[in-house]
Amino acid sequence: MSVWFNPSHAIDQILRQVASETEGFNADFEPGVRPADPKFGDYQANGVLGFAKRNKANPRELGQKLIEAAQASGQFDPELVELSLAGPGFINFKLSPKFIWDWQLAFSTKADYQSGAKELKNGRKVIIDYPSANTAKQAHIGHLRPMVIGQAISRLLDFCGADLVRDNHIGDWGTNFGTLIMKIKRDGIDLSNLGDNALVTLDQLYKDGSALETEQPELRDVSRNELVLLQNGDAENTAIWEQIVEISKVAFDKLFAQMGVEVDITLGESFYRDKVNRIYDELTEIGLAEESDGALVVWHDEVKKFARNNERPYPFNIRKSDGASNYASTDLATVLYRVEEFKAEEIIYLTDARQQDHFQQLFLTTEKWFKAKGYPLPEMSHVFWGTILGSDKKPFKTKSGESIKLQELLDEARSRAYDVVSEKNPDLPEDERRAIAESVGVGAMKYADLSSNRTQDYVFSWDRLLSFEGNTAPYLLYAVARINSIFRKVGVDPEATIEGASPLETEAEMGLARKLMGFVTALELTINDLRPHFLCTYLYELTSAYSTFYNADKVMVDDAAVKARRLILCARTRTVLKTGLELLGIQPLERM
Ligand code: ARG
Repeated sequence: MSVWFNPSHAIDQILRQVASETEGFNADFEPGVRPADPKFGDYQANGVLGFAKRNKANPRELGQKLIEAAQASGQFDPELVELSLAGPGFINFKLSPKFIWDWQLAFSTKADYQSGAKELKNGRKVIIDYPSANTAKQAHIGHLRPMVIGQAISRLLDFCGADLVRDNHIGDWGTNFGTLIMKIKRDGIDLSNLGDNALVTLDQLYKDGSALETEQPELRDVSRNELVLLQNGDAENTAIWEQIVEISKVAFDKLFAQMGVEVDITLGESFYRDKVNRIYDELTEIGLAEESDGALVVWHDEVKKFARNNERPYPFNIRKSDGASNYASTDLATVLYRVEEFKAEEIIYLTDARQQDHFQQLFLTTEKWFKAKGYPLPEMSHVFWGTILGSDKKPFKTKSGESIKLQELLDEARSRAYDVVSEKNPDLPEDERRAIAESVGVGAMKYADLSSNRTQDYVFSWDRLLSFEGNTAPYLLYAVARINSIFRKVGVDPEATIEGASPLETEAEMGLARKLMGFVTALELTINDLRPHFLCTYLYELTSAYSTFYNADKVMVDDAAVKARRLILCARTRTVLKTGLELLGIQPLERM
């Protein structure tokens, strides 16, 4: 046997196969392999317990039988892994120091890690719906999290072998266009002439338009009429709308480039405008949707949480009483399109926590509808998050109480990072300090966002996120830069094969080597829960294990074999850290 990249997965597969040929087991058996408490071993299979209970068998006897069959199968080399029965019927797996060392030799590059990780998603067709902002509005701090969390999850899914489509489902068909077009026409504004700050102007025009409607309520009818004209394909309004969408796209593309956001397709709400009638028809035909006060709605009476004051739960409104489509109808049409057009097996939506009800209703409706029609139901999940808070623990705003523009935040990140870098390393040439600040500033902001559990609120603090201590991007980036400097000093290429190493000996070496192997488990955890903070925590712990090793064991020693093996550990730490940072959307640096 050779070492497995992902031991828990390999052990699971082998146990399944061995059990299928062992008396007393059947297809109902799930090995249940997971990382173990280090006191007992590296991995533990606890599936025998539940299986024995269900089948009224003795778990320890069954466990012993499985161990013997597994050993007899020759798939567990006793030099590499030790099996033992424990407690009421657990099976423990302990990897030998030889396994851990062989693993370091067998997997060394990002490509090696990726080829091992790709079985986690195994070619699954996944659509990720992000960052999906609304058009005609400037990006503000509320757009940070979808961009940051969305790109990290996208990169992770891609790395783990998903067949991914990143779909930017922009909100380009809302009622705000009525007001905007009313104001634009009234003032005779030429949208082709707005220059660099076109989106700022549009933002202002909308605000002024709404204010005008408050002053002169009769203008609301004018706006409504402009919207109806647009929805019916009126040439003039369509041309204005197209310009607005284009202006938004240009502005967002500029932000995407700075944020490292990549999307594959941009099919906004407007794309589905001719696809919603089929939704109304099908949902009515199967008896799921019904008219209510002129609107078309779907009731999910079994879900009590949609009820207020013990009344009947409120329904999912899929067509407005004036006949217009809405957020729900376009989302239903979008699910169908993704399944029919892309054969989506999984769809992941990213928005803030306020849209939880919408997505629960959307998922329920889709389930019932697809079941009735016999359509293949994709797995759907809503990745949501909490609020970014200021130091006063209230939503982070400017001093005057306005929302902070995303571009201003990015500019400030760069300039603060430049100051920090200049203070730490005043001798570096100015342009290099600028380049470092670019990666550190934006990276630190991203990392602060990703490293806290996304469902919780977090406090935004420049000092904390730019600190070189603690679970921060600068701390991790600096660790990579320090390892690079070791390799520069010894004149060795960290990516080249290092020959002549002796096997691991010291406790700190073993500790670091085990932690390096934990990369796979961290990826799996992150992907399963779609929570990037698991990967952040892992990278932070890896860096700490590296520091412990580096402080305990000198790398530059005379014994060439010892030096070689320690350099191998440095090289692996560098690769895992770099790979992890890249997956989070953070650019590692040669030096800092
Ligand atoms: N445009 C929406 C917003 O800004 C988010 C869209 C999320 N995606 C979706 N398919 N509903 O709130």
